[in-house]
Amino acid sequence: MHFLSSDDLSREGFEQIFKIAEEIEDEKEELALKPHSILVLYFEKPSTRTRLAFEVAISQLGGNAVYIDPNTTQRSRGESLSDMIKMFSSYSDFIAARLYKHSDLLEMAQDSSVPVINALTDSEHPTQALSDMYTIRKYKNRIKGLKIAFVGDIADNVAMSLMLTAAKLGAEFALVGPKAVQPNARLLNKAMEYSKVVVTDSVEEGLDEADIVYTDTFVSMGQEADAAKRKQLFAQYQVNSKLVSLAKPDALVMHCLPAHRGEEITTDVIDGQSSIVWAQAKNKMLLLKALLLYLSERQ
Ligand code: CP
Ligand code: NVA
Repeated sequence: MHFLSSDDLSREGFEQIFKIAEEIEDEKEELALKPHSILVLYFEKPSTRTRLAFEVAISQLGGNAVYIDPNTTQRSRGESLSDMIKMFSSYSDFIAARLYKHSDLLEMAQDSSVPVINALTDSEHPTQALSDMYTIRKYKNRIKGLKIAFVGDIADNVAMSLMLTAAKLGAEFALVGPKAVQPNARLLNKAMEYSKVVVTDSVEEGLDEADIVYTDTFVSMGQEADAAKRKQLFAQYQVNSKLVSLAKPDALVMHCLPAHRGEEITTDVIDGQSSIVWAQAKNKMLLLKALLLYLSERQ
């Protein structure tokens, strides 16, 4: 199976991956992949965390990662993704791709004989949401019944995957941002089938009784040309101490990183007592290990 969207996994699937992650954390048994498993990392966009987390994860599971920068391949001279992926999958056991266009990822998956994992596209970032929901469960001891508020760019890839995953696992979700920006309607309707999801431009309404306050950059990769306009559009949705005070007193603050201090989040908040961003970042590697093990059993 592929993991292209957060909606590709059932609630049971997420729970099984969490269970594998817990087994790894508890060191109950040494979990490993087929010896010398190969993970191709095909990244069109930069990455600090996801690339490293994948490389460390596969290496600790007894395999190897091969990082491919498309600019150094024949893709830069027009070779089709489809032709490349047929060849990549004949050499490897998994492919993780970070692409601009989600439609390219769907095309890759169609032509791949091994699992393809979405390592971020413009629509979704499902591995981020997978590890973030695990982190939330660790800190709050539950997911069902929690309220998670995503503040800022509510059309963001991280927001969409977090919304789908949280809703599927029974959390309430609020998308809090300006009216001029709207989430992907198809993904929003999906999430609404699973749980209560509200879209609001009111920080008071969105943050009320929130257990988690989550934000991401106002300018995602590929949106640099509109940076000034976007920073202005989202300015009033900055996660600062005043905004966080609208949530529950024990609310936790999360950010997928990289953070732009002084833009979507203030330094006092990201470095403050409520912030769990470093635990969040650390868990990415653990959950990628669990995901690779889960997918390997389904090949
Ligand atoms: N959160 C995240 O995906 O970070 P990178 O862009 O550094 O991989
Ligand atoms: N929304 C951000 C996430 C980075 C991990 C982006 O796409 O640039």
